[in-house]
Amino acid sequence: MSGNRKRVAILISGRGSNMSALIEAARDPGYPAEIVGVLSNRAAAPGLAVAAAEGIATASLAQSQFPSRDMFEDVMTQILESWDVDLVCLAGFMRILGEDFVNRWAGRMINIHPSLLPLYRGLHTHERALADGATVSGCTVHFVTPGLDEGAPILQAQVPVLPDDTPDTLAARILVEEHRIYPEALRMLALGELTATRQ
Ligand code: GRF
Repeated sequence: MSGNRKRVAILISGRGSNMSALIEAARDPGYPAEIVGVLSNRAAAPGLAVAAAEGIATASLAQSQFPSRDMFEDVMTQILESWDVDLVCLAGFMRILGEDFVNRWAGRMINIHPSLLPLYRGLHTHERALADGATVSGCTVHFVTPGLDEGAPILQAQVPVLPDDTPDTLAARILVEEHRIYPEALRMLALGELTATRQ
């Protein structure tokens, strides 16, 4: 497998626990993808140091340094191209991406979202699930399309919502499942198993 593994970049903004789950999966030489770079829009993102310690190329650039989102995303594209990237994984990347950037990666860029999409697109998913009295929640890996959290789902996992849950306890229960399904979804994408369902 090592000769034709897909080259993957991960985009983060923070802690990077999903990033770490992907890096861990890719340690297996039989896994069909390798993590070749981690890009953050925040220089202080803790995940950057974790990736660097793994010997993975890293870069950070703040959108505020650029006159426009297009220019910011053009530089992101240049970095991804310099890493010769095949696939992009968003993992807690807290910027909405523009249509040109998203379309450039159509069918090749996926995201992990902490809800059972199409429920609770956007932020504060756990607070909203609890406020609704949901008894089940979970997470979704989906293709990235221009509409926020609207792309076709690839894998989902459910967890129960318990009576005494807070947003933090529910988030922690869901995060365990995120770390399980994200590497599995990337495996499927890298093997070309998702072409019929993309977008
Ligand atoms: C995760 O809950 C993910 O679903 C959401 O942002 C969070 C990122 O956490 N998109 P981490 O940085 O991967 O630990």
